[in-house]
Amino acid sequence: MASGGNNENVTETGSLSIVVLGASGDLAKKKTFPALFNLYRQGFLHPDEVCILGYARTKISNDELRNRIRGYLPHGKGASNDQAEDVSKFLQLIKYVSGSYDSEEGFRSLDKEISAHELLKHTAVGSSRRLFYFALPPSVYPSVCKMIKNCCMNECMIRLHRGLDALALWTPRGSDIGADRGGWTRIVVEKPFGKDLESAEQLSTQIGELFDEPQIYRIDHYLGKELVQNLLVLRFANRFFLPLWNRDNIDNVQIVFREDFGTEGRGGYFDQYGIIRDIIQNHLLQVLCLVAMEKPVSLKPEHIRDEKVKVLQSVIPLKDEEVVLGQYDGYTEDPTVPDNSNTPTFATMVLRIHNERWEGVPFILKAGKALNSRKAEIRVQFKDVPGDIFRCQKQSRNEFVIRLQPSEAMYMKLTVKQPGLEMSTIQSELDLSYGQRYQGVPIPEAYERLILDTIRGDQQHFVRRDELKAAWEIFTPLLHRIDRGEVKSVSYKPGSRGPVEADQLLERAGYVQT
Ligand code: NDP
Ligand code: BG6
Repeated sequence: MASGGNNENVTETGSLSIVVLGASGDLAKKKTFPALFNLYRQGFLHPDEVCILGYARTKISNDELRNRIRGYLPHGKGASNDQAEDVSKFLQLIKYVSGSYDSEEGFRSLDKEISAHELLKHTAVGSSRRLFYFALPPSVYPSVCKMIKNCCMNECMIRLHRGLDALALWTPRGSDIGADRGGWTRIVVEKPFGKDLESAEQLSTQIGELFDEPQIYRIDHYLGKELVQNLLVLRFANRFFLPLWNRDNIDNVQIVFREDFGTEGRGGYFDQYGIIRDIIQNHLLQVLCLVAMEKPVSLKPEHIRDEKVKVLQSVIPLKDEEVVLGQYDGYTEDPTVPDNSNTPTFATMVLRIHNERWEGVPFILKAGKALNSRKAEIRVQFKDVPGDIFRCQKQSRNEFVIRLQPSEAMYMKLTVKQPGLEMSTIQSELDLSYGQRYQGVPIPEAYERLILDTIRGDQQHFVRRDELKAAWEIFTPLLHRIDRGEVKSVSYKPGSRGPVEADQLLERAGYVQT
């Protein structure tokens, strides 16, 4: 078994090489490099041990890549002198290697650069750490994995150290040589991981033949968001939630993602995937798992992921009458989108979990582009109070809201006495808005946190293969029917709340606007 997981008994001190594959692309410049910069600024990436390499086919120089990245880091007028100095030092850590994704030549050059860095840092044999971040279209994942396996595994240090015995020199790549010395090779792969159950499983098998599960980090950046990470703490470290978090008290749960812009500039990609594959199958479903799962045995990644898989496996097949799909007017005007596209840019659906805790409680997942606001939140709505003596309106139900973005907050809507002489009730809020309560405390970017986890070998916030499979099992039948045109999207106006049919579904599912 190759070394990929965290060996808790070993201090990881070897040189660290971070390779961003697809360095010329959008994700790399907007998210990956800025996240690395933030980690560098906070001292998590130390110049004495780290080198960062960009790799892509585009032929550019080191300086050209650095200049592209500079535009996404604090620079120019608004930046302080300190920041500007940090930016320059950080950029100096970055080198660029150009090559294709399916020939060994480029990857051998990459390996040479990594090895040179490791030698320069006097890295002990087997202790080098190599992280490969795939900021690439998934179509090239299998060939890139093969190239890394053939040319770039961390064992290559052996070849550079003179005086090793012959056996060590012959140790094959991918063998366990680094396991007891803190060394490893890990890969971070981006979504979309497949288009349906079959393609995802095929991709998993292809990658699984080359890397072991502890080496594979399937990233879902929603798992790196502050309030998503807070869900386990909220649920399992607070006595008052424990007895309430079930079908006896909760009427319905909504997990909502809204964006106030369309797919402009990404139409070609988006049209092949649609909102269910882009947002619901991954981001919203991961949030659902954390809201619905049982308490894990411990915080060990495998214990947490075991519980998430159980939730996914308990979801019963979606019913057509509990799905509303929408497409905003003007979506097909994008020249990269076919005129007759049926791809949904909006979806509301009810998921039902068949287990003791959640039987009968609708989990309403809703995601849409080009809506009236940008927001992601979880709304847990409680049942009406039995034997009500205040003649409360339905609208005064308790609701616990966790706003993931923007302006992280959680608040509990509750009924209180209206201040004054009369005995009347009013809906109010217990409000924990992070901006006020934790003023000045920086909230890390999701990517920043997750990349740090990959370096530390913590897979808690990454998607395991069986989790991914169970997630695709839920949506694949519906997705295939949408692809065949058997389930149609209704139109909605950009800048609106989405199709009215979605609000009607919400009402049928029992949600009450509070
Ligand atoms: P890009 O389209 O910008 O592609 C990244 C790089 O990959 C390009 O610069 C290009 O580099 C290379 N590339 C592009 N198309 C191909 C191709 N058909 N065959 C081989 N190489 C190709 O993608 P993004 O940076 O937007 O996304 C990268 C990954 O991250 C994708 O899996 C995407 O789904 C995912 N993602 C992206 C997000 C974003 O905000 N952009 C958000 C979440 C996930 P070169 O030609 O120089 O080799
Ligand atoms: C990405 C989707 O995964 O998440 C995009 O591909 C979407 O379509 C983005 O815009 C939203 O991320 P965030 O963190 O801005 O909510």
